[in-house]
Amino acid sequence: MQQLNNKQILLGVTGGIAAYKAAELVRRLQDYGATVRVVMTRAAQEFITPLTLQALSGNPVHCDLLDTEAEAAMGHIELARWADLVLVAPASADFMARLANGRADDLLTTVCLATDATIAIAPAMNQAMWRDAATQANLKTLISKSVAIFGPGDGSQACGDIGPGRMLEAAILAEMTADQFQSNKLDGVKVVITAGPTREAIDPVRYISNHSSGKMGFALAQAAVEAGASVTLIAGPVCLTSPDRVKRIDVDSAEQMYQATMDNLANCDIFIGAAAVADYRPAESADQKIKKSAETLSIELIRNPDIIAAVASHQQRPFTVGFAAETQNLIGYAQSKLEKKKLDLMIANDVANTEIGFNSDNNAVTVIWNGGEKTLPMTSKQQLSRCLLSEIAQRYRENEAT
Ligand code: C5P
Repeated sequence: MQQLNNKQILLGVTGGIAAYKAAELVRRLQDYGATVRVVMTRAAQEFITPLTLQALSGNPVHCDLLDTEAEAAMGHIELARWADLVLVAPASADFMARLANGRADDLLTTVCLATDATIAIAPAMNQAMWRDAATQANLKTLISKSVAIFGPGDGSQACGDIGPGRMLEAAILAEMTADQFQSNKLDGVKVVITAGPTREAIDPVRYISNHSSGKMGFALAQAAVEAGASVTLIAGPVCLTSPDRVKRIDVDSAEQMYQATMDNLANCDIFIGAAAVADYRPAESADQKIKKSAETLSIELIRNPDIIAAVASHQQRPFTVGFAAETQNLIGYAQSKLEKKKLDLMIANDVANTEIGFNSDNNAVTVIWNGGEKTLPMTSKQQLSRCLLSEIAQRYRENEAT
């Protein structure tokens, strides 16, 4: 598990009770092969001493922007250049606000502003502070600036509250950090992804559809390209620009999506059905706009083809991954779909939770396969996609080997 071999991780520690977990985090990052340097804010030093982190990291801890001696030894620009990735854990609400606003009022924010490396943060705060509109607005800004968001987790808090805002455990943070560097896992592998909703025409101007934004499928396409795959993205009607180096096929209806999928099966090692395909379509689509007259109007609906089930039972069957968007009994329903549709992997998604549902920027999922399951905590859809791709790649390779 040396995925951070030769990698230089700058660990930023800000002021919060979760700062004590930074000690364990240094160790776990080192387990993955990383060299770690630590930058602490002034508030962080109230919770854990620089000496502790210096002893564990084996490097001097950096605390001040305006300390001439420290700057002479390794200045803020050198630190910013040194880092292959900056991980801030815990990231307090105040730090998120300062980072979102591009402040450079201490060493850590200055390094973040000066670095070209990926920045990842592990938020940790009281649940009310996390839910506050200001923090959520800052989170949105950070996601839009491609900052990777690790967590936060849900559960009991040091202040006695229960809810979102707990920093993720050190082992999970180290794993997520390693995932940021996992490229080439799917070198030469052909991946076909369906994304977005479908539109089922009632007449030339009206249709039946759903709230799917396509963000998850597009983020997966991006992550698959980053992992070295050649990617075909079959997209329903969405307002998203294609990731670079992706072959995109635009479709409208489920039948068109089915056809495009079948046309591309010969060139597919892994199929990921992330689209929210309409289960039914009007039996007939009127040629002309239906005029209003009667008080009620009935539309007969007929079943659409189940695209992923057709893929999984095809003679040229690729490794097949489905999504189960559920509002109740998430794992139970996902498990039975995995079996019924004969899939290799199911990604179960609780769409009743508005924080991680259809149109949100974040998501949390449970990955289920025959004989196991793994929960990936809430994070941005981009970050989650990288973790998902690494799970998919691992199971795909295991399958290939058997
Ligand atoms: O049965 P359900 O719609 O919940 O299953 C979800 C999974 O099946 C998703 O991966 C979705 O893309 C796929 N699906 C499909 N064709 C359909 C319905 C769902 O490929 N007609």
